[in-house]
Amino acid sequence: MNSEELGLQEALELVDQWLLVKDGRRLKETEKILFTAGWLDQGYEEAAAESGYNTGYLQSIGPDLWRTLTYVLGEKVSKKRLKKIVETKVSKLSHNVHFPTVVEVDLDQIDSSDLVVLGRRPPKLSHYFGYKPELAMLRQSVLETQCIVVVGQAGVGKSSLASKLLESFKLTDEEDFEMVIWESMQVHESLESLLKEIFRCLNLDPYSCSKDLSFQIRELLKTLNQKKCLIVLDGIENILIGDSVDNPYGRNEAYRWFFREIIEQNHQSCFLMTSREPFADLSYAEESGQSVRVIDLKGLGRDAYAFLASQGLVDKEDGFRVLIQRYRANPLSLKLVANRIHKFFGGELNRFLECDTILIGEPLQRALKQQFNSGLWTALERSIMAVLAKLSQNTENILFYNAFEALKAEKEYISMGEFMSAVENLCDRSLVERTEDDAGQIMLSLQPMIKKFLYRHLSGIIQKSLAA
Ligand SMILES: Nc1ncnc2c1ncn2[C@@H]1O[C@H](COP(=O)(O)OP(=O)(O)O)[C@@H](O)[C@H]1O
Ligand SMILES: [Mg+2]
Repeated sequence: MNSEELGLQEALELVDQWLLVKDGRRLKETEKILFTAGWLDQGYEEAAAESGYNTGYLQSIGPDLWRTLTYVLGEKVSKKRLKKIVETKVSKLSHNVHFPTVVEVDLDQIDSSDLVVLGRRPPKLSHYFGYKPELAMLRQSVLETQCIVVVGQAGVGKSSLASKLLESFKLTDEEDFEMVIWESMQVHESLESLLKEIFRCLNLDPYSCSKDLSFQIRELLKTLNQKKCLIVLDGIENILIGDSVDNPYGRNEAYRWFFREIIEQNHQSCFLMTSREPFADLSYAEESGQSVRVIDLKGLGRDAYAFLASQGLVDKEDGFRVLIQRYRANPLSLKLVANRIHKFFGGELNRFLECDTILIGEPLQRALKQQFNSGLWTALERSIMAVLAKLSQNTENILFYNAFEALKAEKEYISMGEFMSAVENLCDRSLVERTEDDAGQIMLSLQPMIKKFLYRHLSGIIQKSLAA
């Protein structure tokens, strides 16, 4: 098929088929309406007027659809880019470039009784919701890639996702892993400590700090080439103890080298890491075509509705939508809020919403404090957070350019280039959100939880940015 001839109807059918293969479901009616709007470059209002749906409702489901299509098409999809991405894929297909076929995972069929995990115990969830496209993507990636990093905010479900992935593998299957190891990085700040434990699990000669490190890593990689192993390093942000953005690893610099070895040397195993902080060197390696994949986890999306219902809440007067929007579908935050609603409001969601308060759970609070106090900040990033916090007192979405102007008023020497890369870093760390309005203008915003945290700690942050 020639992509130039690709019409809306054909595109819809193709994407519907791909979605079925990757996610085991078809496009819903509202998703088709949004797809059509993206394809024809219509605004949300126009799409709403034609379809009879509410504009706000269509806008609220947009991000979920673009996220799902990003996984289906393997490239970042937005409403504006949709048509071009589908056309490019179709034209590649017509030149016999095949899509990787994703192994479909039926979560309900998973039987974890024969799964043996060495090292620490992965967390177990009795009721797991959502993240189906991410799980399918991850399952495919661990079989093909030597290093994967799942990045996301505290409580978004990184460790649970990795654990669910392990359950989806049965060790006896031909294509799966011979050995699975789970390591919590909270207890392995140093590389030696981690290697000792991995050597023990793999039954290698005991790791000895007195021997040459490169020799021992060669031995490890030899084994990882003979045996197909999956090694999960949970909470890898714990090793970033450096004092500046240019020196994120600090005295853990050996890790940087270790990561390069596991990525660049040939072997058939996979290191799967979860992290609150993005790793600049690993993202760069991914962009340069190395065997690395970075997966961003952004919240449960539509599945948060079923998750909230499972927490014993009842959806009245649009309450679930408000809650999900406020807490960005972060399962840990939603669980905490649901718990408080039961404890203090007799389970009445709307009475809680009337109080118009934002709760920040202890784990997120701790994580944010750690993030703000770590050396992984530039003075410019701190100033941007302070400026956004101030501007967002009046409006939720701040025009990108207005934020730049407000910053320049405080720091005259800032160039647009510096501003853009600092904003990019903040978005990668889930601290700032970047959206596009119907007119294609870029807006910046802060999650309500981050905003509240900043209001509480703003003076400290500003002082640090002035001192730097
Ligand atoms: N997909 C999910 N379905 C149901 N609950 C979830 C899911 N993901 C996370 N949770 C809940 O959120 C909590 C935190 O998840 P976790 O995986 O530890 O987050 P992270 O590793 O990103 O900090 C879990 O203990 C669980 O209660
Ligand atoms: Mg975790």
